[in-house]
Amino acid sequence: MTSEEAAEEISRLTRELERHNRLYYVEGISEIPDNEYDEMFRNLELLEARFPELASANSPTRRVGGEPIDGFEQRAHDVPMLSIDDVFSEEELGEFFARLQKNLNAEIIPVTIEPKIDGVAVALHYDAGELAFAVTRGDGAVGDLVTENVRTIRNIPLRLGDDAPAWLEVRGEIFMPNEKFAEMNESREAAGLSTFKNPRNATAGSLKLLDSREVARRPLDFVAHGRGRIDGVEPRSVKEFHQLLKRYGLPPNQPIWEAETLEQVVTAVRELDVARHSLPYATDGAVIKVNDVADQEQLGYTSRAPRWAAAFKYPPEQKETVLHDITVQVGRTGNLTPVAELEPVLVSGTTVRRATLHNQDEIDRKDVRIGDTVIIEKAGEIIPAVVKVVFEKRPEDSVPFNLFEAVGGICPSCGEPVERPEGFVALKCLNRTCPAQSANQIKQFVSRKALDIDGVGSIVAEKLVERGVVKTIPDLFVLNPESLAGLNLGTEEEPRMLGAKNAVKIVETAKRARTAPLHRWLYGLGIPQVGESAARELARLHRNFGELLESPVFPELSQMKVGQRKEDNPALVEYQIAVEVGPTVANSMMTFLQSSSGIVLLERLAEMGIDPQSENYAPIPPSAEEAGGGCAGKTFVITGTLSAPRNDFKDRILSLGGKVSGSISSKTDYLLAGEGGGSKRDKAESLGVIILSEEDFQSLVGGESTEEGEGEVEQALLL
Ligand code: IVH
Repeated sequence: MTSEEAAEEISRLTRELERHNRLYYVEGISEIPDNEYDEMFRNLELLEARFPELASANSPTRRVGGEPIDGFEQRAHDVPMLSIDDVFSEEELGEFFARLQKNLNAEIIPVTIEPKIDGVAVALHYDAGELAFAVTRGDGAVGDLVTENVRTIRNIPLRLGDDAPAWLEVRGEIFMPNEKFAEMNESREAAGLSTFKNPRNATAGSLKLLDSREVARRPLDFVAHGRGRIDGVEPRSVKEFHQLLKRYGLPPNQPIWEAETLEQVVTAVRELDVARHSLPYATDGAVIKVNDVADQEQLGYTSRAPRWAAAFKYPPEQKETVLHDITVQVGRTGNLTPVAELEPVLVSGTTVRRATLHNQDEIDRKDVRIGDTVIIEKAGEIIPAVVKVVFEKRPEDSVPFNLFEAVGGICPSCGEPVERPEGFVALKCLNRTCPAQSANQIKQFVSRKALDIDGVGSIVAEKLVERGVVKTIPDLFVLNPESLAGLNLGTEEEPRMLGAKNAVKIVETAKRARTAPLHRWLYGLGIPQVGESAARELARLHRNFGELLESPVFPELSQMKVGQRKEDNPALVEYQIAVEVGPTVANSMMTFLQSSSGIVLLERLAEMGIDPQSENYAPIPPSAEEAGGGCAGKTFVITGTLSAPRNDFKDRILSLGGKVSGSISSKTDYLLAGEGGGSKRDKAESLGVIILSEEDFQSLVGGESTEEGEGEVEQALLL
């Protein structure tokens, strides 16, 4: 086959596949059986493999994702992505409509009403009909370029066809259909992976993945609802815009109502409130838009939202049901939470069996008793809550509830006494080795930002604790692969074993984690208030746990008063301690180091020969001129391809007292730019930010300029 013939065949197959995609995803029609489609797809793949120069980035075969990336580039929106003003009642809706009438000087105002989708907003840019790039909303002015991830979403066309306008920016929401979300969570749970709280979080999390091949496996969908920059066509109304979307195979937001009086708007908003429960995504409102673009322009914008649109927010759905019992759950931080066990009811599309009662104060305030009829509510995706008691329906034999008495003063999970610490509303189990808490501690410890122990997802962590294999963190380092392989991740009736391969992997990774740097350990231990940045700063100030136990700075810090500055304390000034570490962190560290569980933990680690060391130890930072060259105190943004992973450069800058930010602003001092990195370069230029090549950077920080980025970094870390 000649190159010309291949080009022709590629183009034919591409068009055919695109046509079928469109039929399927927009109109719900399958014209050909799946195997015929698959064959065309495979033929296209084969041809593209043979003639890579003919393979387009927007080929239907690219839906499966590509090479993972280091991070997302950012991009400024040509037209800012604004919010919509909310209205919370029909009265406020009336006021909005009256404003439209007044400002447009008309009685009749044609508007459209459509669902407000609770998804993740993106802008898709089509250059002459080709998907050029996709940007998240970000802060409305600048967002992340998530093009590769977006390309994997099947109902987003990669090409709009020959009659596409010169430029079309379509805005909409990416979402995970409710049912697919439930299925995905179930299979993640079965695989021992962490689950997502709700479809929106799952969507946001999926879009942030750096590996688009993984995104391709997530069941994401798109629906279009707005426009950004358009060149070459001029839709004159919302309705015309929707027709345009359909013409190009972009899925428009549906259903849509038309109205021109307030009465009609109210009717539509009420109808939508019923219809929305059968939509595949979560909705929390109705968006009312002035239909005519000319009217929209006349009304204009405030700094944050258009004056021609409003979002009617539906109040959370409430239902009446019977509270049969109150049980007690021990949360991850040891809080005891009373939970209402309810007669199952359907609320906002899902069956609710349990609802939180928060704490004893809430129970008392609402006077909730076992046997009561209660009103429950589900606001968005949040856990349902008991709103109030229907006192008229209170039975004679209703039983008041007291949390402390119900648990007999002991934790239902570990049997140790519970307390209500001063200033807290919740009863707490203070036993750090309580199984309810240790599962969560283990989860934190093995998480990616902590010790990153491959294979121990949240289900495995829970089972390890539940089956008594692991009680505290050190237990993870004496796991035996043989007994681990038999860990049952399923139930008694339906057992599912971890397996030998996973077991070996876990043991091996745990072995490596023994020598992980101190800051990862500090973060992984889940000491209250010690987040990632605080852990890093603590590791800068101390070499190891031994030094932390004898810390010269904790006692000073813990005595600081509100409004006092660390720089004013002669004992602290030379350490130049970052804001992440202050009295709260110091107190929390001291509490941990002096607690019996903390002492036992450190002793056990020492017995096992585990003594994590700091990799960024530099307690007394040299002045800016001495080391780190111009790095200290400066804010860097990194872009483009460099000779080593960006994270290495980031670590190096941090270790030299600099800061690294994800986006360029007037506060940025330097842009470290490798190859590529176009949009950040442009922005840096326009803001007058100094652009450094990798070589410039090396000379700035006083290192030798070398090709071996990694060796360099290690050297810098030893400084
Ligand atoms: S129209 C500036 N229509 O809600 C107005 N937005 O709260 C143009 N949203 O940023 C947006 N559903 O991401 C529009 N049917 C809908 C929407 C919708 C959800 C999002 C959108 C917007 C945010 C504002």
